[in-house]
Amino acid sequence: MARARTPSRSNHELVFRSARKGEEGTLATAAYRAFQAGDPEAWLRYFTEHAHLALDNVIVAETDGQLVGHVSSLDLTMSFAGADVPFQGLASVAVLPEFRRRGIADRLVRESLRRMRRRGEALALLHPFRLSFYRRFGFGVCELRDVVRTSPDRLPDSVLRRHVRAFSRPRDEPLIKQAYDLARTETTGQLKRSEYWWDVRVFKRSQSGAVYVDPGSKAIAGYLLFDVPEGGAYGVQQLLVRELRAPTPGAYRGLIGFLGALGDQYEVVELVLPRGYGAPLLDEPGIRDEPIAYETAARHPGLCPPVHVAHRRNVLGLTAAGAMGRIIDVAAALALHPSPRKHGVRGAIGLDVEDPVFTDAPRAFDVTFAARGVQTAPGSTAGDRLSLSIERLTQIYFGATSARDLLSQGFVVGSAKAAALLDAAFAGPPLFLGVFNGF
Ligand SMILES: CC(C)(COP(=O)(O)OP(=O)(O)OC[C@H]1O[C@@H](n2cnc3c(N)ncnc32)[C@H](O)[C@@H]1OP(=O)(O)O)[C@@H](O)C(=O)NCCC(=O)NCCS
Repeated sequence: MARARTPSRSNHELVFRSARKGEEGTLATAAYRAFQAGDPEAWLRYFTEHAHLALDNVIVAETDGQLVGHVSSLDLTMSFAGADVPFQGLASVAVLPEFRRRGIADRLVRESLRRMRRRGEALALLHPFRLSFYRRFGFGVCELRDVVRTSPDRLPDSVLRRHVRAFSRPRDEPLIKQAYDLARTETTGQLKRSEYWWDVRVFKRSQSGAVYVDPGSKAIAGYLLFDVPEGGAYGVQQLLVRELRAPTPGAYRGLIGFLGALGDQYEVVELVLPRGYGAPLLDEPGIRDEPIAYETAARHPGLCPPVHVAHRRNVLGLTAAGAMGRIIDVAAALALHPSPRKHGVRGAIGLDVEDPVFTDAPRAFDVTFAARGVQTAPGSTAGDRLSLSIERLTQIYFGATSARDLLSQGFVVGSAKAAALLDAAFAGPPLFLGVFNGF
């Protein structure tokens, strides 16, 4: 006698859906098993208390009724050259260990992106565990960080360090928040921080710090928060600066000078800074524990037969990949960027955009930069056109690279005039989130 068959799910079909209320414990267990980091309680709080996480925006993968993976997208807002711009933070992609390498995370990310687009989102950012995994969905590295790991006494001294005193949370919390908000105004990538963010993502992670008191106004004009990992013996301890915000030149020099005076105690100070900030800090090679790989053999040009000469690279610091970004909707993203209007950019160009996820959506656009803002419509009328991937367009959009450079390197094809116009339109501070804006 034929046995009654359970309906189609028994063939291990994967089902994707939003998470539901009451499922937080299962989500937390799956995240803990996938990451083997944090603790189950902390993961439960992540799914129950996170101020920027709506369960609707947690996508779960299920097979045979078992939750085998999930991904979240957080509702966040960042500074963008003086404006506040919303974006989705793709976070906590997790697949149970026994379900790996069969495309579950791939499908979760695609599903999450499709839902973002349906909701009308323009932009997404994430912190990659591996770049190649996310590039396949059109994400590109958009945040470039200068990492300086140096002996403190290599940092430039300043008499202004006399205006630095220890940070005390009860006294300084509101003043630090003011300094952070001031620092946001001219930057791109600084989160608009909720109370939740300040408490859970900042102060609970780092209790030590220093503040710079402006000698004129007596206000806190800058601060830094740091950790000293346990295990380092006295004399070889490391001080890791997690956040340094110094909207005035005096605060910056004073706080750097403060770090520079700690050389008798710490072997290494590490700073994670926006791109371009590293080199001016150091006029001697800075990197401690410099790996041998940084030495390179170069062919001496004038000699025949060619001779290989070892060149030290004199590493001042490292450029590290930070957040990756992705434009979800080209028209919406271009309309959100505050810089074209600010710079008074005018003109019309065409963009032909390859997108590996939204393959059915229009890919040819006519873009008009006008006084009222940027108008983008499907079409291929504009004569000056650029042909590029969504990854490259996003990197140009966030100022991680320039359209003209990409054109000269062959990563973008088309009109030099269109490339120059895009660069002029998007010129502005480079994207920098830093450590404590990580999600
Ligand atoms: C990272 C993580 C989510 C990946 O999940 P996953 O479901 O194994 O990922 P996928 O199967 O979609 O893709 C992983 C690789 O397997 C490959 N793959 C997909 N299907 C496959 C199959 N049937 N057979 C073999 N390989 C396959 C993918 O192409 C991809 O290859 P790549 O090495 O070229 O990138 C998972 O390892 C995890 O939970 N890790 C711990 C938590 C973590 O680090 N999360 C990321 C936070 S940003």
